[in-house]
Amino acid sequence: MRIDILTLFPEMFTSFLDGSLLGAARAAGLIDIRVTDIRDFAEGVHRQVDDRPFGGGPGMLLMPGPVVDCVEGVQRQAGAGHLVMLTPGGRRLDQSIVEELSRKERIVLLCGRYEGFDERIKEILSPDEISIGDYVLSGGEVAAMVIVDAVSRLLPGVLGHEESARQDSFSGAERLVEGPQYTRPREYRGLHVPDVLLSGDHKRIAAWRHERAVDATRRRTLQTTINK
Ligand code: ADE
Repeated sequence: MRIDILTLFPEMFTSFLDGSLLGAARAAGLIDIRVTDIRDFAEGVHRQVDDRPFGGGPGMLLMPGPVVDCVEGVQRQAGAGHLVMLTPGGRRLDQSIVEELSRKERIVLLCGRYEGFDERIKEILSPDEISIGDYVLSGGEVAAMVIVDAVSRLLPGVLGHEESARQDSFSGAERLVEGPQYTRPREYRGLHVPDVLLSGDHKRIAAWRHERAVDATRRRTLQTTINK
């Protein structure tokens, strides 16, 4: 898979992309990630990328020229791909959207800054608008990192053991949250690992885990409802 990240702050991605899992996956050629500075497509001595909104209002908007030129420039290099615009008004990211994105051959992630994008950018490019949650970040960069992280760990070979992605929370038909897990020691501060996990009876263990996952999912749903 190839992922292009279009941003005004390319330096934000340096340590993220070189980090353990992604760094190794990139070095092994499992994923090709490139970062492009939108400002490289701006004109004039000041290389302006943003301006005040017509009609008044706070903050600055990204101008259509540099953003559209940047997207089209990157698309000319390696094909159109699936264009994602990170914005709080987009469809809310969940594991099924992550799975959908992981099946694409190529994704282009467009990060905004300031108060948002000039509307014509959306009209011209028709991006898939995605939000990572109902809160406002100071830009799309952290949201793009969330997508790269969640998508790349689903790609064959990236995690090392495919089974662990399949057993994750929100995976599988039921979309269950993962239940409790334990490692050594068997007893810690008087708390014991449940006997069933030490039984060696794989059928019973699977049944117990499923039961706990259903329970954790139900409690989480209740909590979310109470918070609303
Ligand atoms: N940019 C600003 N806030 C965002 C959010 N919640 N999701 C995606 N991109 C954003």
